[in-house]
Amino acid sequence: MPNDNLVFLCKTGDLAPGNARRVERKDGDIAVYNLDGKFYATEDRCSHGLSSLAEGEVIGDEIECSMHFGSFHIPSGEARQPPCSVAIRTFKVDIRGEDVFAVLS
Ligand code: FES
Repeated sequence: MPNDNLVFLCKTGDLAPGNARRVERKDGDIAVYNLDGKFYATEDRCSHGLSSLAEGEVIGDEIECSMHFGSFHIPSGEARQPPCSVAIRTFKVDIRGEDVFAVLS
């Protein structure tokens, strides 16, 4: 029986460390990140504008938005660099075998 709270993001081998990818969803796209082999997920939309965070650059444990170069702490969603000031939503990640899921709550 499918679990509606799980959103498939990618296979563990699909996303190399230091990279991000957008997963399209009608209820809001999700960005998945691989930080040194550990996976994280946040909402994909920058809280400062309409930009896709997955199109930005992963720098350490932060994602830098490609639009105005504000940034967020990926594990917590905290805004770290202006003009971003509002945190983004984060999702718990569940890995089952090679499948990476976001857990919606
Ligand atoms: S839209 Fe992301 S920093 Fe402005």
